[in-house]
Amino acid sequence: MTLKGRNFLTLKDYTPEEITYLIDLAEELKEKKKQGAIHDSLVGKNIVLIFEKTSTRTRCSFEVAAHDLGMHVTYLDPSVSQFGGKESVADTARVLGRMYDGIEYRGFGQEKVEELAKYAGVPVWNGLTNEFHPTQMIADMLTIRENFGKLEGLKFVYMGDARYNMGNSLMVTCAKLGMNFVACTNKKYFPANELVEYCIDIASETGATITLTEDITEATTDADVIYTDVWVSMGEPEAVWEERIHDLLPYQVNAKAFEKAKETAIFMHCLPAYHDLNTKVGQEVYKKFGLTEMEVTNEVFEGPRSVVFDEAENRMHSIKAIMKATLSD
Ligand code: CP
Ligand code: NVA
Repeated sequence: MTLKGRNFLTLKDYTPEEITYLIDLAEELKEKKKQGAIHDSLVGKNIVLIFEKTSTRTRCSFEVAAHDLGMHVTYLDPSVSQFGGKESVADTARVLGRMYDGIEYRGFGQEKVEELAKYAGVPVWNGLTNEFHPTQMIADMLTIRENFGKLEGLKFVYMGDARYNMGNSLMVTCAKLGMNFVACTNKKYFPANELVEYCIDIASETGATITLTEDITEATTDADVIYTDVWVSMGEPEAVWEERIHDLLPYQVNAKAFEKAKETAIFMHCLPAYHDLNTKVGQEVYKKFGLTEMEVTNEVFEGPRSVVFDEAENRMHSIKAIMKATLSD
């Protein structure tokens, strides 16, 4: 299989075979790294990372993966570059495409990363937009496969804000890989109809199922994976916190949410997570609303079912696989 020259903007653009190929490659590169084997196959190449939103995992994953592959990296902070201010996305894309072999972009609307890709002439990787977070998907699927030895047929339950980048991306990925996706949340937070219809269509070919429900018992019974994400995403106004807490607190991932899940069920979260008061935002929310933990309780986050740090590590191996696949012959 060759993915050379391809953009990585959303998994809607990738076939189940291509997605599986990337998960396999991530697994192979992880194994090589653990063995200390050098795999610097992209020596001489250069990549640029553009972050319009903050990041720990994604930025570090791109940088470490690029270095492991022998590439050089430029980190571009939009506040000190011309991007979007004095220079359009299209012009920036054409300039960067002349200097770099690949471009990572994290920002707001999906249309921006699509526009970068249209003009760059080199692979563009989506490091998160409001709509999608595709590099996270390869890491998440690798993590699930490491735990269950398979993906097809597993019951994957997403609780919380299911109409943003994580919910959208996970629904698409589960549909493509033949998994049983359940969005369990207040119906205001169900993914958009158009995307649900797209996924149901894909599911009819792969054997996946797509369920949207407000019923926690129905959703979590026999679950293999329970996944959540923050209730307020980067770029959203602070003013929405009150409504989100009101609407989504019933869908907090706590010990009760796991009561009806399988013995072997795991907890996942893309991170960062609000599971205690050791963050500035956690403190602010505590002072205003009295909550000590939000989308996940500390008990679950720190408990034996939690695989969140394996998941975080797998970001690096997956991003390495994505870059290697799209840049190598
Ligand atoms: N999960 C994730 O994308 O983390 P960062 O925001 O730290 O990159
Ligand atoms: N939904 C979150 C994901 C962070 C990785 C956000 O966009 O902030």
